[in-house]
Amino acid sequence: MADSKIIAIIGATGAQGGGLARAILGDGSGAYAVRAVTRDPDSQKARELADLGAEVVAADIDDPESLRRAFEGVHGAYCVTFFWAHFSPERELAEAQVMAQAAKEAGVAHVIWSTLEDTRRWVPLGDARMPTLMGQYKVPHFDAKGQANQIFADVGAPTTYLLTSFYWDNFIHFGMGPKRGPDGRLAITLPMGDKKLPGIAAEDIGKCAYGVFKEGDALLGQTVGIAGQHLSGADMAAAMSEALGQEVLYNDVPPEVYRGLGFPGAEDLGNMFQFKRDFNEYFCGARSIVRSRALNPELQDFATWLTRNKARMPLD
Ligand SMILES: NC(=O)c1ccc[n+]([C@@H]2O[C@H](COP(=O)([O-])OP(=O)(O)OC[C@H]3O[C@@H](n4cnc5c(N)ncnc54)[C@H](OP(=O)(O)O)[C@@H]3O)[C@@H](O)[C@H]2O)c1
Repeated sequence: MADSKIIAIIGATGAQGGGLARAILGDGSGAYAVRAVTRDPDSQKARELADLGAEVVAADIDDPESLRRAFEGVHGAYCVTFFWAHFSPERELAEAQVMAQAAKEAGVAHVIWSTLEDTRRWVPLGDARMPTLMGQYKVPHFDAKGQANQIFADVGAPTTYLLTSFYWDNFIHFGMGPKRGPDGRLAITLPMGDKKLPGIAAEDIGKCAYGVFKEGDALLGQTVGIAGQHLSGADMAAAMSEALGQEVLYNDVPPEVYRGLGFPGAEDLGNMFQFKRDFNEYFCGARSIVRSRALNPELQDFATWLTRNKARMPLD
């Protein structure tokens, strides 16, 4: 529709941005329209979005000029960085700078920055309870996102800071699903003790973000934390046992054991889980389920997500 407010979505072919694109395209009111930003408009995922009614444009967050063009004439911009594509917090900071600057120059009225905590505010680099990684970070894929909040503020881009949560989809795509031990029994391994992990269906992040755009100006400059449910490792194992019809155990390991598991990012994730465990009251408190459901009335709890996704969970 000619008078629809356009939302430019970085990562529209991915998890967070894809959820936002589908939320807007499925709305039917025509109040908002999608400009899906991708490096490859010919990819299957990009073409699927075009078929649903999105305008698809080519841009790369590492190419400032392409991003400026992508943000031209839009009402809103969803900004996210892709740590696991390059493992570089410095690159995330540079990309946040490019996105914030492009949004400011294009006069975007509402930016959502998909962020996480700079854990160094809670665990200074000199604090030995967890190792310092990459020279100047405790949780590299968190810290740079939190540090980048100031970039959006300094540039003067009108921004809502969206604090996301652990995707339950990590149990499908990120190698965190139930695994069989030598005794043949399934278990999930998390270094969380008996503390609760805020989690969310990745698809619901975008739906909550759509709620943020619809609430509009009142949320500029605000931080909004979202989660579908706060659950302990034992809670999640019990829910998986129920959904899968076979027992799943919770293998609670110390963070130092998790950091030593040897897969790419194990140290970063070990520190991340330790931060969530050791500052659990803060971390859960910053992610209100009631608020998330107000933004997204279709918010899934873990049991609902499991019912819909259990067949996709590799059980090896
Ligand atoms: N996994 C979790 O539990 C979790 C929780 C909270 C936050 N996060 C954060 O979420 C972020 C990733 O978001 P996501 O899961 O939505 O990503 P994703 O599903 O991996 O999607 C990435 C999409 O981004 C696009 N992309 C990648 N590099 C790009 C570039 N240089 N320029 C433009 N587009 C680019 C790609 O699209 P094209 O190929 O079409 O260009 C791709 O489809 C990470 O920084 C991670 O730290 C993850």
